[in-house]
Amino acid sequence: MRRLGVVMAFFLWTAACATEPGPPPHPDLEAGRETYGRLCSVCHGGEGEGGVGPDLSSVVATFPDCETQVRWISLGAERWVTDEGPTYGTQGKAITGTMPSFEPTLTEAQIRQVAAFERFRYGGSGETVALADCDVG
Ligand code: HEC
Repeated sequence: MRRLGVVMAFFLWTAACATEPGPPPHPDLEAGRETYGRLCSVCHGGEGEGGVGPDLSSVVATFPDCETQVRWISLGAERWVTDEGPTYGTQGKAITGTMPSFEPTLTEAQIRQVAAFERFRYGGSGETVALADCDVG
């Protein structure tokens, strides 16, 4: 009887786990979330709502190709103006020059992770699409 009790307890435990909401976050998106919170939220807001920097709800429209977003984050505003011209994104957005270059601070893999995180969390892309678009992993 005692053994049956243990088996029942284990069964209930696994059943309880199965009802937890959603799968765990993808490790690359989790890493991107950590980088975002540490280096980007100060200007773009804790929920991507914007502040000094623009809100991130239209990030996918701005950069339909994630490679361009990765380049933007790497270069930052000043080097973008030198290399690419006075505006950015498909909408030809104005540049204040405030967005820093993250090439000295982050590896390319970290930039890809944070770009994918922004597209997934704020831009409305699905998890698989965001990861594939930014060629993460
Ligand atoms: C010091 C403030 C600041 C920080 C920190 C910052 N940004 Fe920005 N970001 C800006 C500004 C301002 C712009 C708009 C361009 C400009 O005026 O320079 C921008 C634009 C962007 C855009 C374009 C969004 C759109 O749809 O127009 C993306 C994507 C972005 N930043 C990503 C990041 C990421 C990723 C980080 C962290 C690794 C980061 N930013 C950190 C200020 C900042």
